[in-house]
Amino acid sequence: MHKSVSFEYQLFDNDNELAPDLRALLQAANEAVRLSYAPYSKFHVGAALLLANGEIIKGSNQENASFPAGICAERVALSVASSTFPSEKITAVAISYRNGTDPDSLDHILSPCGICRQSLLETTQRQQRSMRVILSSPSGRIIYLENADSLLPLAFSSYHL
Ligand code: THU
Repeated sequence: MHKSVSFEYQLFDNDNELAPDLRALLQAANEAVRLSYAPYSKFHVGAALLLANGEIIKGSNQENASFPAGICAERVALSVASSTFPSEKITAVAISYRNGTDPDSLDHILSPCGICRQSLLETTQRQQRSMRVILSSPSGRIIYLENADSLLPLAFSSYHL
């Protein structure tokens, strides 16, 4: 039996087409980039989460001389949200970055790593609500998708345990 997986997303040249709440969320992700601690990779990432109560939670990547101890911006933000507003659903995530070693990569749109996709998926399943995703480039190009789950097809999850 042949099967396939596909999902839809939108590509924007700038934030003009985003709803005001999502534009503000992307702005928060841009601010979070500046709080990144990435002396090793010099790849500075910011993530911002919009909670159902209107709060915005920010996170940035935090590296360590023992490289595997570093943590991505998305999972920093998810951990802050879960430990400060555990029952508040996360309705959207925005992700931004600045590449300190390749300032020419301004149009490249960042997409979360596999571990972060796994964490985003668990959050949507736990809260039983989808999470909109805004991915951005330093020049302001945007990928928008309706549900973070699309980023990890055929995923492992709690249903398997
Ligand atoms: N990083 C993130 O924070 N989020 C991503 O989606 C991709 C990668 C971080 C991890 C590491 O500190 C640096 O970017 C380079 O991989």
